[in-house]
Amino acid sequence: MSEPFGFPADFVWGAATAAYQVEGSPLADGAGPSIWHRFSHTPGRVHGGDTGDLACDHYRRYPEDIALMQRLGLQSYRFSISWSRVMPQGRGAVNPAGLDHYDRVVDRLLEAGIQPNITLYHWDLPAALSDRGGWLNPDIADWFADYTRVMVRKLGDRVPQWATLNEPWVVVDGGYLHGSLAPGHRSHFEAAIAAKQLMRAHGASVQAARAEGVRSIGLVVNIEPKTPASTSAADLAACTRADAYMNRQFLEPALKGELPTELAEVYGEAWQDWSPAELALVHQPIDFLGVNYYTRAVVRHDDSVWLTRAAPVPQPMATHTATGWEVCPAAFETLLVELGRAYPALPLYVTENGSAFYDPPVASAQPLPDPLRAHYLQQHLQAVSRARQQGADVRGYYAWSLLDNLEWAHGYSKRFGLVHVNLSTQERTLKQSALDYAAVIASRGASLNANA
Ligand code: BGC
Repeated sequence: MSEPFGFPADFVWGAATAAYQVEGSPLADGAGPSIWHRFSHTPGRVHGGDTGDLACDHYRRYPEDIALMQRLGLQSYRFSISWSRVMPQGRGAVNPAGLDHYDRVVDRLLEAGIQPNITLYHWDLPAALSDRGGWLNPDIADWFADYTRVMVRKLGDRVPQWATLNEPWVVVDGGYLHGSLAPGHRSHFEAAIAAKQLMRAHGASVQAARAEGVRSIGLVVNIEPKTPASTSAADLAACTRADAYMNRQFLEPALKGELPTELAEVYGEAWQDWSPAELALVHQPIDFLGVNYYTRAVVRHDDSVWLTRAAPVPQPMATHTATGWEVCPAAFETLLVELGRAYPALPLYVTENGSAFYDPPVASAQPLPDPLRAHYLQQHLQAVSRARQQGADVRGYYAWSLLDNLEWAHGYSKRFGLVHVNLSTQERTLKQSALDYAAVIASRGASLNANA
């Protein structure tokens, strides 16, 4: 039986990208290198030796891409700024050509009737700052606040919504604990420090943006709900540790000014407490929480897993995406409802949600059929609608991603786009999921009823 899916007229419909994943031209017009430029040019780090040197050539093709957004009826575009384009050394001198690029992007979006939604940090730290310790150096809160001021002074008159960090957990876990992402370090001592310095920088950035008059600034976190594999005490404790490490490590300091007590156990000898002053800096009032949701995890106790001693349990009966992630829209619905209950005054935006499934390198049809992605999108939009009906204050949804792009250490081997990109010719082709999304936007969700 169909259900009355629907969204209010002021619900924001968008799509998201991140600078290093789509822009290309990483050193153009006076830009400095980022840690991702360095990492992708280090043999063995990125699948197939792929780099962001060309990516989707969005740096040059943004007018064409904005025209596509317009065609789909998108109302907002979430994108990130490459810090080292704007400040090649990460601090000090500003590169006017880098700033002007984003100025033009913002103006073009506004001309197209699309609201810009800027994320200040989506993982591409200026390499010069990494050489000074990067996220391990306590000075980074000031560096990030200075960079925030530069951006807000230039674009604050035209950009209504800002986010500080994208997914601090991924920076900590991939960048400093396991080394699978830039800067590629492997140390639980560093991971503990990076987590604290990221969140101090978030707080300092919120303060700086507000002082410059920004009225909507938030934090974007990836939340992966954890479910215990059994009711045994060991599995329940493992589940709590996994949730503390991945989810609450960032939510609770930012939103409550507290740290989950389990973190001391997770990090063990590497743990350092956060002082009351540090927690106070992190705990700035924010205007919204950005939630990135892809999957959930069922977890059990496993002593061999560094650091959490919690292992994911395979779910053989479930559908999985090309990144091996279980498709579970029910967990998404529950997550949004629970976040709404835990933080009732805080508006929520789904700042990323999407799926990688195989698409051919050359689009064979227009639109390109992508039934698995289209189904994922439909189920997850239905979940958002259901969560809203249960009271979750979700005000917008950004599909990940507008374009097939550089999926970090997976290189170009995983396609998340609503729009197919032929990486040899840069030709863009709409996928069926893009057209379905356009129909959802145009009907404010009513088209989701058809296949419920
Ligand atoms: C990130 C994106 C990434 C996506 C899919 C998120 O963790 O913010 O940059 O491409 O997930 O892995």
